[in-house]
Amino acid sequence: MPTGKRPTLDDATRGRLLFGGDYNPEQWPEETWHEDVRLMRDARVNSVTLGVFSWSKLEPRPGAREFGWLDRLMDLMHDNGIGVVLATPTASPPPWMGHLHPDTLPVDQDGRTEWWGGRQHFSHSSATYRRYAAAITEDLAARYGDHPALTMWHINNEYCTYDWSDEAAARFRHWLRNRYGTLDALNEAWGTAFWSQGYGDWAEIHTPRHAHYLKNPTQVLDFRRFTSDMLLECYAAERDIVRRATPHLPVTTNFMPLWSGQDAWRWAEEEDVVSVDLYPDPRDPLGAQSGALVQDMTRSQARGPWMLMEQAAGPVNWRGVNHPKPRGLNRLWSLQAVARGADAVCYFQWRQSRQGAEKFHSGMVSHAGEEGRTYREVKQLGADLARIGAEVTGRHTAGDIAILHDWHAWWAGAQDGRPSGEVDHPDVLRAWYRALWEAHLATDFAHPEHDLTAYRLVVVPQLYALTDAAIDNLRAYVHGGGTLVCGFLTGVADEDDRVRPGGMDARLRELFGIRTLHEWWPLEREETVETDGFRGTLWSEEIEESADASVEAAYMGGELDGLPAVLRRGRAWYVSTLPEPAALRGLLARVAADAGVRPVLDGLPDGVEAVRRGDLLFVLNHGREPVTVQVPGTHTDLLTGATVTDTVALGRYGVAVLRP
Ligand code: GLA
Repeated sequence: MPTGKRPTLDDATRGRLLFGGDYNPEQWPEETWHEDVRLMRDARVNSVTLGVFSWSKLEPRPGAREFGWLDRLMDLMHDNGIGVVLATPTASPPPWMGHLHPDTLPVDQDGRTEWWGGRQHFSHSSATYRRYAAAITEDLAARYGDHPALTMWHINNEYCTYDWSDEAAARFRHWLRNRYGTLDALNEAWGTAFWSQGYGDWAEIHTPRHAHYLKNPTQVLDFRRFTSDMLLECYAAERDIVRRATPHLPVTTNFMPLWSGQDAWRWAEEEDVVSVDLYPDPRDPLGAQSGALVQDMTRSQARGPWMLMEQAAGPVNWRGVNHPKPRGLNRLWSLQAVARGADAVCYFQWRQSRQGAEKFHSGMVSHAGEEGRTYREVKQLGADLARIGAEVTGRHTAGDIAILHDWHAWWAGAQDGRPSGEVDHPDVLRAWYRALWEAHLATDFAHPEHDLTAYRLVVVPQLYALTDAAIDNLRAYVHGGGTLVCGFLTGVADEDDRVRPGGMDARLRELFGIRTLHEWWPLEREETVETDGFRGTLWSEEIEESADASVEAAYMGGELDGLPAVLRRGRAWYVSTLPEPAALRGLLARVAADAGVRPVLDGLPDGVEAVRRGDLLFVLNHGREPVTVQVPGTHTDLLTGATVTDTVALGRYGVAVLRP
């Protein structure tokens, strides 16, 4: 771990909001670069990410270096006042690498090689790949470390690969030896007494490859941990190289939103700047909520300002049907990210490609060019961000409520052979987040072992596996005066995915007032279950309360008639089903009010969101109909300069940024 104070995003933003995106000029003739720069300047673009997929251009033959084109671009950017986030190109090795060194190619669980011809065809475990990646990173850092355009490093791109190869298996064994020390400890943790899986030699252990029937769940869980750690090793190796050359520059790598392959809490600790790529579907009626969730999560990982590294100015090309963004939506969702603490609003990519797999993915300059609506709206947004940048940076967004999330709990709970394949961890998380969002409650995310004492309310949508430390943390939190609301399938297993005695940890059962958990009664996809207050979905439980618990809602009819659906003991609440959206919203609003947590603003119409960033109040209309919103007091709208007293009128997708 590096020592000393690391640079932050503030060192790159210096009182402005960054605006720009991935720039892939190697796809275009040099004349186009000059037009690009003119359009960038007109749109007030102040940051571009270069080099993400440039490896074969930079190193066309093993060991060769072609830097001339990048030299010219770095200079061009600098001459035009545009900062460069320089990427290491290691997400897409050149074809010669796989051709000469097949050991650099990943292998899937069925033993199939992932060939070049796409991207991300690198084995995180390959020593050869790691050597080439380090060499090109060294040379980029040496060549551009002192370049005045350089503001930040971007390592690789969306680390998301898996590898079941022999080389990965060797590293897996090494990783397991570090984790367990002895085979006895591994056999115990993996429960290998089941199905005759006991290991007598480390050499017998493989990555969890294609198997006849269900795989050992703890082996699979460890493989996910190992994969996240191997990718992190790749990242850290490149990071350390650029840090040595440029200790004054921040380093990032871009996360995918709620991506299952990386323990992002762990990764964020290794970054100077946390960044994320975010692509809600413009047609999704819950797009604003799903975007907000990722924004809150990213800010919480960053513990401060963060970067929206990529979004789409228009349609993507990877959904079944790819919808454009209606007029105003790009601006609205960009300002939503700024409200939630983003100090950078960037895109994939600057200019829409004419060739290649992503030619139908939008860019800030679409195929329609300068006259196209997409670029015109980008230009307007650039002006908006320039107008508010100095006021916004340095002010911070903070939630009143902590939502707990943990990748290891997700991985453990997402295995085959569980009570219901209908329970999808991200869906459950989104349902709870939606309820809080619609109740206008401001949320952060936290890890179950984080210090929670700053929050009056902690919400656990679902944490299937919990460590002892996490359980003790939750109990201490409630005993210290905090309010906790917890959803079903929480605290079922320990970190080895061993079911806790009683089907749920005894300390948690005591906390919530659950005397006995008899059975889970999962529901079919469209099935619902009645309670005396609402309808539940997805799941229900046969539980018996202890004498000191109060039943806040009870199942009605069917096998569970009269049994608790929502249980409470003091400030600890347990919700044994997934209430329909309005009911979950009502429940959480009530618990929040009891805990002394107020909505961001009272009386907000549906579909209007209010977010505080420091003393600025962002009001965002996610609807197409104009609305009038009560905002008591006198403010200045930083976007228009107008004085706003007590009410603000917002048009379709309208936004106000109010300073008192
Ligand atoms: C990701 C990648 C980009 C591009 C976009 C398309 O965010 O990082 O290179 O493929 O997706 O949406």
